[in-house]
Amino acid sequence: GRLVEWGGTRQIIKEPRQEYTNALVSVHEIEHQEQKPGTTPFLSVKNITAAYGRSHVKVLKNVSVDIYPGQTLAVVGESGSGKSTLARAITGLLPPEEGTVTFDGRPLANRLADRPKEDLRQLQMIYQMADVAMNPRQTVGTIIGRPLEFYFGLRGRQRDARVAELLDKIEMGKGFIDRYPAELSGGQKQRVCIARSLAAKPKLIICDEVTSALDPLVANGILKLLLELQKEENVAYLFITHDLATVKSIADSIAVMYRGEVVRYGAKSQVLAPPFDAYTDLLLSSVPEMEIGWLEKAIKGRRMASAGN
Ligand SMILES: Nc1ncnc2c1ncn2[C@@H]1O[C@H](COP(=O)(O)OP(=O)(O)OP(=O)(O)O)[C@@H](O)[C@H]1O
Ligand SMILES: [Mg+2]
Repeated sequence: GRLVEWGGTRQIIKEPRQEYTNALVSVHEIEHQEQKPGTTPFLSVKNITAAYGRSHVKVLKNVSVDIYPGQTLAVVGESGSGKSTLARAITGLLPPEEGTVTFDGRPLANRLADRPKEDLRQLQMIYQMADVAMNPRQTVGTIIGRPLEFYFGLRGRQRDARVAELLDKIEMGKGFIDRYPAELSGGQKQRVCIARSLAAKPKLIICDEVTSALDPLVANGILKLLLELQKEENVAYLFITHDLATVKSIADSIAVMYRGEVVRYGAKSQVLAPPFDAYTDLLLSSVPEMEIGWLEKAIKGRRMASAGN
């Protein structure tokens, strides 16, 4: 609630006077050692094709990816490339037209409605817009408590104790139990959504742009939290993002999507190392940096490259 620093763009970015401003402008210092994939993936997406409504325009084309226990697959690509659609196909919200999704060695039912409760529990999802992912009329306690009741039949004191434990995990105190979503900041809302997904004790959490709406400092806090929880609970993430700095911080493997297809896929160290395909190169060179004149430089570089062609 206090104005701690005020100045010109150059001064704020290059010579911040306050420790806090410095933390805000020097983003993404998380270090994550890439893990080698195990021998068998526990979620395997094979050649899936999906389309919306009656249009039958294919939004996913022949997509295949594998996810290993306790690891993170990052899915990157421009807006409209089909990242969220892939999440919907895996969760059964949009049944694929062709291809299969195998989980723990057995095929998952295409439609959400046909999946047994246990499958629903194992695959949780956290959405980009935490605001609309929670019922505004329910308190934090009710929101986190619902999966505890639904999946584990916890009620009363037992349930409250577990809610308190989960709040503790996301570094929010018991004081938040009676708050409504509208009484939380964006980062706090996203933490509550994380706690709700953890309540189910899932093996895989699909995170769809979960830090995109947050400032770098809070986003970093959320990423650190997700990495810590991964270590503690051995949960895997399918992490959808258009932010390549985030990808560098958390991924073990990466799938690059373009127009519904996976155009590049492999371990983080491979995907982020040259030689690049034209699209990945463009994606990588489009990551804005906290550098004055970055945009002008990027545009100029691109003009020169296309003149060269
Ligand atoms: N409910 C829908 N009905 C019809 N078409 C849809 C629907 N949802 C998405 N699409 C289309 O499917 C394509 C892929 O959309 P999708 O939401 O998967 O993209 P995305 O990669 O998640 O993009 P973003 O980064 O903007 O979230 C887009 O062309 C989009 O217009
Ligand atoms: Mg999306």
